[in-house]
Amino acid sequence: MKYTPITDEIYAYMSATFPAEDDFLRTLKREADEAGFPPIHIAPEQVAFLQMFLKATGAKRVLEIGALAGYSAVGMARALPEGSSLLTLEREPRHADFVRRKVREAGLENIVEVRTGDAAQLLREITVDSLFDFVFIDADKVGYTTYLDLTLPLVRVGGVICGDNTLAWGNIADSASTDKTVQALRNFNAAISTHPQLQACLLPIAEGMTFGVKVG
Ligand SMILES: C[S@@+](CC[C@H](N)C(=O)[O-])C[C@H]1O[C@@H](n2cnc3c(N)ncnc32)[C@H](O)[C@@H]1O
Repeated sequence: MKYTPITDEIYAYMSATFPAEDDFLRTLKREADEAGFPPIHIAPEQVAFLQMFLKATGAKRVLEIGALAGYSAVGMARALPEGSSLLTLEREPRHADFVRRKVREAGLENIVEVRTGDAAQLLREITVDSLFDFVFIDADKVGYTTYLDLTLPLVRVGGVICGDNTLAWGNIADSASTDKTVQALRNFNAAISTHPQLQACLLPIAEGMTFGVKVG
């Protein structure tokens, strides 16, 4: 076997040794739950990974597609230095309002901007003074390839585009699947792994994250 299966014991060990979720993020999730939001935030270990990644790459301009309750946005924004910005796009006004409140409570309102609307539409309207260092795609899965195409011109060479859930909850290898989400994620992985401007890999963390660095 070329990999180690993540048992509950290993997962508990990882969470205890590399904690990424503090009281603020735990409370955010509880309040989102009480507000009836679906529990589809990224996992704590993804926050840990993204924070390390953003710091390692010196990212200052981040774009997120799909905010939900702001768990990933707050997690990422905390890893950014002074003078950075994180723009997150969210279709549901109720989600967007919740995120704005949590961003204020976290003291991150100078960094995080939430735009409400359909991501594809909002992406077409974006004009940038400086290109993005990192794009995190975590909205409707059928839109992923469109978001890849629309964000690529907005990312600097050396910048990275990442799509979440790219193991499709264990179904990504099922080429016969008629599930639209599985098909969309397979199409996204195919597009990012073969794109001439990108060098990509799939990281098997949580539900899978696919990364592509812009090389040209
Ligand atoms: C998986 S959740 C995002 C989770 C969030 N990134 C986190 O980990 O905290 C997906 C979010 O994308 C939003 N969404 C879905 N389709 C969208 C679209 N076409 N445009 C913008 N947002 C969309 C949903 O309303 C939902 O809030």
